[in-house]
Order: sequence, then C-alpha cells, then structure tokens
Amino acid sequence: MTRNGNTRSSRKLTARTADIHVLYEASVQSAEAYIELIERIFKRSRKRDLKTLREDFCGTARLCCEWVQENSDVEAWGVDLNPKVLEWGQKNHIPVLEDNASRVHLLCDDVRTAKTPPVDILIAFNFSYYIFKERATLLDYFKTTYNNMVGDGILFLDMFGGPQAYNNVIEPRLIDDEITFDGVELPPFTYVWEQAKFNQINHHMTCYIHFKFPDGTKKNRAFRYDWRIWTPPELTDLLYEAGYKDVNFYLQRWDDEKDDTDDTFRKRKHYNDLDAWFGYIVAEK
Ligand SMILES: C[S@@+](CC[C@H](N)C(=O)[O-])C[C@H]1O[C@@H](n2cnc3c(N)ncnc32)[C@H](O)[C@@H]1O
Repeated sequence: MTRNGNTRSSRKLTARTADIHVLYEASVQSAEAYIELIERIFKRSRKRDLKTLREDFCGTARLCCEWVQENSDVEAWGVDLNPKVLEWGQKNHIPVLEDNASRVHLLCDDVRTAKTPPVDILIAFNFSYYIFKERATLLDYFKTTYNNMVGDGILFLDMFGGPQAYNNVIEPRLIDDEITFDGVELPPFTYVWEQAKFNQINHHMTCYIHFKFPDGTKKNRAFRYDWRIWTPPELTDLLYEAGYKDVNFYLQRWDDEKDDTDDTFRKRKHYNDLDAWFGYIVAEK
C-alpha cells in the first residue's frame, strides 16, 4: 500500500508485463535495513541525529525517497549518470512522497564531479564503485566522497567476498510477493544472479541479473555489470590514503540453528566464516 493508502494491482507478471526496475528493487534492495544500519552507526559514532544524505549511483533513488518519507526533517541528494533510471524514480517514487518530495534532489551527473552541499553521510551501495577498475581512479573517487561530506561525515559502502566471489556462479532466488513502495502488488518471481566471467589475475568480472516468471517466460540479462572485485585490504588502504581516519567492516556470522546468517551486521576485526559473504564498509572522517 502507498503512504496515502492506495494499492494498485499489477497485471499478470510475465516477461512482457514486468518492469525491470520494480523487479530489481524487490530483489536486491532493502531500503529499511539500509536505513536502520546507517542511522544506528551514525548516531552511535557521532552522538547526534543524521540530517543529510547523499546517495551516489542512486539509480531509482529508492533509498533517498524511503529515508525522507520516514523522517520529517531530513534532506537527501541522489546522483546517477543515467537519465532514464532517474526519470523512472522521478515518475514512480517521487509522487509517493507528496509534500516531502521537495526534500529529495536528483542530479543527473557523474559521482566524481556532481556538486552537492556537504552531507552527514554518503552512500554507494550495491557494489556500484566496482566500476572503477584502476587504483588511481578509485582513490580519486574516495577523495571526492571525503570532500563531499561535513567534518564528521561517514561514508558507507558495501562489498561481497569469500572464495565464491572469485568464481563463476549462477544463483536463483525466489522473491516473495510484496506491495512495493509505490503501492503496486508485485507477485512472486525468480531472481537469478550470474557471475559469468572472472579473471583471477586482475579481478575483473562480468555479472548479469536475469528474471524468471511463473508462466515460464524470462528476462535474460536484464542488467549487466563490468566490475573489478576489490578486496578488504585494498579498500582499507585506499580509504585511509583518501584521508579517512577510521575504516571498519560490518559483517554477519553463520547461525547454525537458523541455518542462515544471523540478523545483525557487527564490526569485525577478524573474519573467517563464510564461503560467500556480503558486508558494509564504514569509513569515518
Ligand atoms: C548497480 S546500480 C546501483 C543502483 C543503486 N545504488 C542500488 O543500490 O541498487 C549502478 C548505477 O550507477 C550508475 N553509474 C555508473 N557510473 C556512474 C558514474 N560515474 N556516476 C554516476 N552514476 C553512475 C548507473 O547508471 C547505475 O544506475
């Protein structure tokens, strides 16, 4: 249901009717969990409320919109190079915000040059910074994030690792039905993550997202990513070199009883747990 109480029925979900941005958000984004994490870590570290946020590589800007909708006195900036994906966010998410829409600013620009007021936190999620494959380019980007924040700002990144990250993988996952942020009833479907190519020498990889629908139709290669997988020590070194004072990794452990990961991402200095893991990097100015 939308915040104003409207729910819209989607048509039967097939490759022909499905909207890839709706499928993407339902499969790989968890705006509520991101918000819980960034607010928890920022408040604990800075002993003040979080007021401003910039989301680099924001895509449809779902996180900016969700955060502004939940908090009446905050302001968010989203930056993405692709006008089409920003237009999608503008058309589908921004109207849901009604009067709060004036506190979300979307910029069609390169994250390395986009000008925004200094923010409390800067976020780059879903591994987007992996597009920077050269050390010097990633260092420049981290310096830019540093300069785009206030004096006690915090940068949040995510990453994945473990032996499985350095291999070819095809991983299907059933996505449950849900009511989207925009109030659309989304039936269940299957999300497939494919690591199609991985070069052990330079860590360059090509990945795809595919979607499969209950009627047997598919959207193959709905999204493609050409990345370099950076390792935790490489990222730590680069972030310190960019000027950050404290860099930490927040990771989950395996819970044998649940047969799944535990619920909370905690700061870890030692980690030797999972074959495939996902975590957050928190870099403090
Ligand atoms: C993997 S998507 C991430 C979307 C969103 N952050 C998320 O968490 O799902 C990467 C996005 O980065 C954008 N992008 C790629 N290079 C960029 C750059 N140099 N500056 C700004 N946006 C860029 C693409 O247009 C795309 O929307």
